[in-house]
Amino acid sequence: MAQRVLLLGATGQTGNSILNGLLENGSYDATALVRPSSTETARVKALVDRGVKTLAADVTAPVEQLTVILRNFDVVISAIDAVSMHLQRNLVVAAKQAGVKRFVPCAFISVCPPGGVLDMRDEKEVIYQEIRKLHLPYTIIDVGVWHQVFFPTVPSGRADYASVFVPNTTIHAGGNTPTLLTDLRDIGRFVARIIADPRTLNQSVYTWSDLLTENEIFALMEDLSGETIDRTYLSAEEIEASIVRVKEIIREDPGNLPVRLTLVPLQYNLSRAVRGDGRPEYAKYLGYLDARELYPDLEPRSFKSFVEEVLDGKAERAYNNNSTVFEQLKKGMMEMGITL
Ligand SMILES: NC(=O)c1ccc[n+]([C@@H]2O[C@H](COP(=O)([O-])OP(=O)(O)OC[C@H]3O[C@@H](n4cnc5c(N)ncnc54)[C@H](OP(=O)(O)O)[C@@H]3O)[C@@H](O)[C@H]2O)c1
Repeated sequence: MAQRVLLLGATGQTGNSILNGLLENGSYDATALVRPSSTETARVKALVDRGVKTLAADVTAPVEQLTVILRNFDVVISAIDAVSMHLQRNLVVAAKQAGVKRFVPCAFISVCPPGGVLDMRDEKEVIYQEIRKLHLPYTIIDVGVWHQVFFPTVPSGRADYASVFVPNTTIHAGGNTPTLLTDLRDIGRFVARIIADPRTLNQSVYTWSDLLTENEIFALMEDLSGETIDRTYLSAEEIEASIVRVKEIIREDPGNLPVRLTLVPLQYNLSRAVRGDGRPEYAKYLGYLDARELYPDLEPRSFKSFVEEVLDGKAERAYNNNSTVFEQLKKGMMEMGITL
């Protein structure tokens, strides 16, 4: 019998990729868990129009109620937005009570240790610890940085349509630290393999297509576009100083979501470019399995092929269907004078 998978966040960027991966794989019976307040949105209607099964329920509903729902599923996957990690709590407890065979909490970021490097990672860790305390079978899946948010724009403006930030021309901390990258569209293809694999149960796995430094990426973009990028530079010290400045404001105004969100790109850059966390050897040190080693037959889209799509005018901008979180982040960056 096909594994019955309940997916939270199917209307989002990561969730949509996962949904596509599950459907393309063909061996899953997938259902999208949507919040009742979203059932009439165009995004949920688009799922229904595609023939995707949907189930409306509030993830913060009482555990007993969620347990009844989860009894009908073997696997639960969460791809909830970056600021809603705590909302997974009842789902975790209900999954345990319902006997769910594998819970995939919302990870899907770059490899980073818990403990103060990236606050968003620490919010995820709280949920991982709940899972482990309950002996709930799980898999944590991290993906490096999406191709879709990590390519530089060029002076002609022909890459702007596909970029979530314009301009995107900053080299961080010298630009020589390699980072794992995955095309957003491939996350789901990896997930579909990972959740069927007994080797990944109670493990962390990272996916990737390329391991590249910013300097290599900028050189690749220049080579393919024939343009010279006007680089800006941010040193490690400047990144660290911005983090201190933002944290001071958060201390004074903890409810200021836009400012809180600016910590995400700043701390990402600290983790990735300054500390060098997003490298295979560090991931393995933290105990991760490498999805490319597990599935050598799965050929992910290369970063180069993605950049070619961008330059051919064929790429799709991430968050095209609008994301409140992303809009709040842009507002915070503007308020704080923070560039990528
Ligand atoms: N590696 C990278 O480069 C990278 C980049 C961006 C994000 N991420 C990570 O990916 C994860 C997913 O983020 P995303 O940007 O893909 O998500 P997103 O596009 O913002 O979508 C969030 C999803 O969560 C759903 N949702 C939000 N609040 C909900 C609630 N209270 N109840 C039920 N559903 C709710 C939304 O449903 P509605 O349709 O109801 O709004 C939507 O489907 C994040 O945790 C983030 O850390 C990683």
